Amino acid sequence: MRIVDIIDKKKKGYELTKEEINYFISSLVDKSMPDYQTSAWLMAVWFKGMTEQETADLTEAIINSGERIDFGDLADKIVDKHSTGGVGDKVTITLIPLLAAAGIPIAKLSGKGLGHTGGTIDKLESIPGFSCNLSVAQLISQVEDIGIAIGKQTGNLTPADGILYALRDVTATIDSMPLITSSVVSKKIAAGSNNIILDVKYGSGAFMKTPEDAVKLANLMVTTGKRLNKNITAVVTSMEEPLGRAVGNSIEIIESLEFLKGNIVEGDIAELTYDFAVIALLLTGKFDNEGVARSYLKDLIHSGKALNKFKELIKAQGGTPDITDDYSLFAQPKYKAEIKSEISGYVQKIDAFKIAYGCKLLGAGREKKDDLIDYSVGVFLNKKSGEYVKEGETLYTIYSNDEEKTSLCRQYCDSAFEFNQKVLNKEKSIYAVIKP
Ligand code: URA
Repeated sequence: MRIVDIIDKKKKGYELTKEEINYFISSLVDKSMPDYQTSAWLMAVWFKGMTEQETADLTEAIINSGERIDFGDLADKIVDKHSTGGVGDKVTITLIPLLAAAGIPIAKLSGKGLGHTGGTIDKLESIPGFSCNLSVAQLISQVEDIGIAIGKQTGNLTPADGILYALRDVTATIDSMPLITSSVVSKKIAAGSNNIILDVKYGSGAFMKTPEDAVKLANLMVTTGKRLNKNITAVVTSMEEPLGRAVGNSIEIIESLEFLKGNIVEGDIAELTYDFAVIALLLTGKFDNEGVARSYLKDLIHSGKALNKFKELIKAQGGTPDITDDYSLFAQPKYKAEIKSEISGYVQKIDAFKIAYGCKLLGAGREKKDDLIDYSVGVFLNKKSGEYVKEGETLYTIYSNDEEKTSLCRQYCDSAFEFNQKVLNKEKSIYAVIKP
C-alpha cells in the first residue's frame, strides 16, 4: 500500500477501505508518513467528505492508536460530557461538581483552547496550584475516592488524534464533519465511560455555523457511536453569543463559582447546566422523572453540596480551595476598562467569535500551540442579548495587562454588539436532542 494512492483515491471522492484507513493511521503514529502527506489527505477529506462507514473506521483506527481506559464496573455509572467548543463555555465546570454531588461519578478528559474557542483545562489551571496532569491510574483512583476527576487529553490516549488535531488547526481543516466526529468520538470511547453526552454547538462562535449543520454533525456522531457499540446522546445548542457573561479563564471560573453558590439562577449557564444534568440523571437511571430530577439538582446547589464537591476537586488536584471564598487569590489583571454604551436600546446580538477574538488579543488564548496564556485577562458582558442598556451605562468590561491590547480588544468587541429598539424573543439554548 502507498500513502500517495490513498490520498489520490480520497481526492477523487472514492470510499477508502478499512485496511487503507488503518494503514494511514499507523503510518501517522509510527511517523513514517511526513506531515505534508497527512495535510494533503486532510484537505482531500475536507473537500470530498467520508461515508458513515469510513467515519466509523477512522474513529476505530484512532481509538486503536493508543490505550483505552478501563473503569470496570464503574463504566456503566460514569458520565462523560464533551463540547465541540465554544466561547464562554463553562458548562463542564458548572456541571461536573453538580453531577458528582448527585452521586454520578465523573471522569473527564479535556483539551486546551483550540482556534478561537476556550479550553476547560486552561480555565481550571487558572486556579492557583490546580493541575490536570493526572495519569490514567490517578484519574481512576481519584474517581473512586471522591467521584470526580479531570485530566488532560494527553498521554497515550488516542495519540493519532493529537497529531491530526494539531495539523488540522494549521491547515484550515477543523470544520469537517467526519474529522470532528472521529476526533471527538474516538476520545470519548477511549476515555471509557458508557454514558456519553456530546454538546454539539452551532453559531458564530462554533465550528458549525447553522443549526442544520450541527444536527447533521450530531447525527453522524450518534451513528458512529452506534456502529462502534456505544450509546451517545448528542445535544445541539446555540453558540451565537458567548455563554454566560464572562469570557477568559479565571473570570470564567469566578462565574462558575457564582452559579455553584446559587447566585446565578437564570440565563443560559443555569439553563444549560440543569438541562445537561437532567439528561445525565435520566440516562444513568438515577431518576425517571424530569421534574423530580430538576428539583433534586436545585437542592444540591442551594444546600452547597455542589460547591463542596468543587472544593474537593480543587483540593485533590493541588489547587487552593480558598479561592472559592476569596477571588483576590486569582492572578489579578492590571487594568479594568468599563466600556459605556453610546446608544440606548435592547441588545439584539453579541457575536461570539468577535468577543473570543478580542479576548485572544488580550492574551486569554493561544496563537501557537505552545504559547503561554494570561489567565487574568478577559471580557465581562455587563449586558447580554435581550437586556436593555441606557446610553452611558456599562455595556461590557475589559480586564487586561496591556493598554494597547485593551484598545485592540475593544475594536473587536465594539463591533460584536447589535441593538434594537424592540425587545426580542430569546431562542432557547437547546435546539435538538439526538438519542441513539
Ligand atoms: N473538539 C475535538 O475534540 N475535536 C474536534 O475536531 C473539534 C472539537
